[in-house]
Amino acid sequence: MSAVSINADRLLSRIHALGEVGRDGDGRLTRLAGSDADKAGRDQLVRWLREADLEIAVDRIGNIFGVWREAGNAEKAPVLIGSHIDTVIDAGIYDGCYGVLSGLEAIQTLREAGAALGRPIAIAAFTNEEGVRYAPDMMGSLVYAGGLSLDEALATVGTDGSILGEELRRIGYAGADGPGFSKPHAYVELHVEQGPVLEREGVPIGAVENLQGISWQRITIEGVANHAGTTPMSMRRDAGYAAARVIGFLHDRATASNTPTVATVGCIAFEPNAINVIPARATFTVDLRDPDAERLKAEEAALAAYLQDLATAENMTISTERLARFEPVTFDARIVGIIEEAARGRGLASKRMTSGAGHDAQMIARIAPAAMIFVPSVGGISHNPREYTADTDLVAGANVLLDVIQRLAAE
Ligand code: GLV
Ligand code: MN
Ligand code: MN
Ligand code: MN
Repeated sequence: MSAVSINADRLLSRIHALGEVGRDGDGRLTRLAGSDADKAGRDQLVRWLREADLEIAVDRIGNIFGVWREAGNAEKAPVLIGSHIDTVIDAGIYDGCYGVLSGLEAIQTLREAGAALGRPIAIAAFTNEEGVRYAPDMMGSLVYAGGLSLDEALATVGTDGSILGEELRRIGYAGADGPGFSKPHAYVELHVEQGPVLEREGVPIGAVENLQGISWQRITIEGVANHAGTTPMSMRRDAGYAAARVIGFLHDRATASNTPTVATVGCIAFEPNAINVIPARATFTVDLRDPDAERLKAEEAALAAYLQDLATAENMTISTERLARFEPVTFDARIVGIIEEAARGRGLASKRMTSGAGHDAQMIARIAPAAMIFVPSVGGISHNPREYTADTDLVAGANVLLDVIQRLAAE
């Protein structure tokens, strides 16, 4: 058993307090990157980082860092903990925030306990992890890791026509440093699983050893608008119908295969979008994921071939724009082992697993040894206001995080 444990009340009350920041008039929690709600969430986080007496830095892509370093360890590469506080639309309160606030809690606990660590510890809240307003997702950590240029990221145009760089300036989070903070000695991210595995198996801790590949595309189908009452079925060039065919193709193909491939169409818009007009244009997104790099490529190719056949058969123009493309990631086996040991030390069962969701850890893994800790999500529900993890599991995960960073900081 470890000598110190986190302050459970402080962690839980912060999770609930941050979960109230950015609720709209209908009570829906939405903190899209660069929005006023994001600013309010960031301001609250910064107040807590100050309260914990951490050095605060904001880099040029808006990533926020809270750093604890002492005279004796300041020159050493830090152990970095991170996640995000931006959300999807109508979100739950745990996705991302749990990891950031647990990192802060772990650091604060260690400081209060008078621990003297061999390395600095920093907590990061990365900009635009969700990618709902600006693609690609995991943008702040991607820029940090050198996978996307700062200028390109700042120039990203959002779904609402806004520009990320301007929004960061407007809300006061276009920092002067970096991007990034420094090359970490190691990176650990604690997150709710957002899937059903841990709950189903009754295991409180996931030691995440890999993360599946992600392919995001936007597809536009151009047909011809015409009168819904007068145009015979045989004479239509109906972009809406063609989009529905693509949705059916993706769903049926992923369902019928014996692989973990998943496919989602989460956004769709018809033009002119009227009850009595055949759609002239359909624009929709495709989110394809698979833990196997070759299979993900094959799924993309199958979709491309289907679109080509459909364009010919329905006499339409179909174009595809890539929004994000990330290969599957294998995390650092040594840190995965340390997570398992830490769980054991707390008397908790753990399970090695794959992450179905995207996380900042997959970007930081490009520049530092990285791994993740998961805790169970009740009903496997996430990206939904009903997202829930039991307090005991939240506290257990944060204590495992504390033990892991203490171990890594001693190296
Ligand atoms: C982000 O939450 C993602 O995995 O899509
Ligand atoms: Mn997340
Ligand atoms: Mn998410
Ligand atoms: Mn995510």
